[in-house]
Amino acid sequence: MTKSTSEKSLVNSNGKIVKREDATVSIFDRGFLFGDSIYEVTHTYDQVPFHLEEHLDRLENSARGIGMDLEFSKDFLKKEIDKTCQALGLPRQYLRIIITRGEGEIGLDPALSQSQNFFIIAKELPEYPKRWYEKGLSVIIAQVIRNPKKSIDPNVKSGNYLNNVMAMQQAKEMGADDAVMLNHKGQVTECTTSNIWIIQGQKIMTPPLQAGLLGGITRKALLALGKKHGLDMIESNFTADSLKQADEAFITSSTKEIVPITKIDGKNLGSGNPGEVTKKLTKLYQDYVRETISSYKS
Ligand code: PDD
Repeated sequence: MTKSTSEKSLVNSNGKIVKREDATVSIFDRGFLFGDSIYEVTHTYDQVPFHLEEHLDRLENSARGIGMDLEFSKDFLKKEIDKTCQALGLPRQYLRIIITRGEGEIGLDPALSQSQNFFIIAKELPEYPKRWYEKGLSVIIAQVIRNPKKSIDPNVKSGNYLNNVMAMQQAKEMGADDAVMLNHKGQVTECTTSNIWIIQGQKIMTPPLQAGLLGGITRKALLALGKKHGLDMIESNFTADSLKQADEAFITSSTKEIVPITKIDGKNLGSGNPGEVTKKLTKLYQDYVRETISSYKS
């Protein structure tokens, strides 16, 4: 049974704007059958999608990563995204752009599908709990490890998120908000839908792409922003123990931006409150967002 929702949303289904309840996909669609799809998530300020160019570049990269010859150009997708945002008409929207390899006879050979499908979900951006930002997130170290780069490369944002779903399920079972996933070497990679950072003294560290993680757009922007402000931003591997002993930790994602982590495996991290460096980075990032948006308008 689906939960009823009062949230405002619309779906662009292969160019046609439809209500959420009218948006359907064939059960023979490879996205449904095999997770044979790619996607992106961004959000809007004043109906303008944030970091759209970067998200569409990553979508193209994900397509290459699964050998999908993308049938839709960036310009075409931009127009369809704009059409969808205008139709919903809300200033702050969550946007999910999904491309599936399309429908065909059941079988793994990608050539069984003739044409790809695209969907754009636009909905009111959810208000994340204030507690996350004011008190911080509680995370666990998941038993489920992140799939290795030579499997489905985590740097491909594909519709195959079962690994992350299972990690999140474990977090919920333990009463936590999210899960940190390690790779097969025991190195920290990322959380289920966000990148992870730790602060040790003056060092602000996030694992490198080689650890097996999604190259987050917020991660990239924050690395550049911190460097610009003379901060010691480092891409370096670290273990779950270093995470637990860090002075501070936080996550980043497009929709959540920066959220402090204050509890790991049921134990307080540092003082158990959001730290000063995280607060400073949050302020820098918020200013950067405001400047970037005004640059879109000028
Ligand atoms: N998630 N890692 C994973 C596994 C992700 O799914 C995401 C994004 C990120 C952060 O990337 P970015 O800064 O580009 O949003 C890292 C989106 C928000 C989602 O799937 O809802």
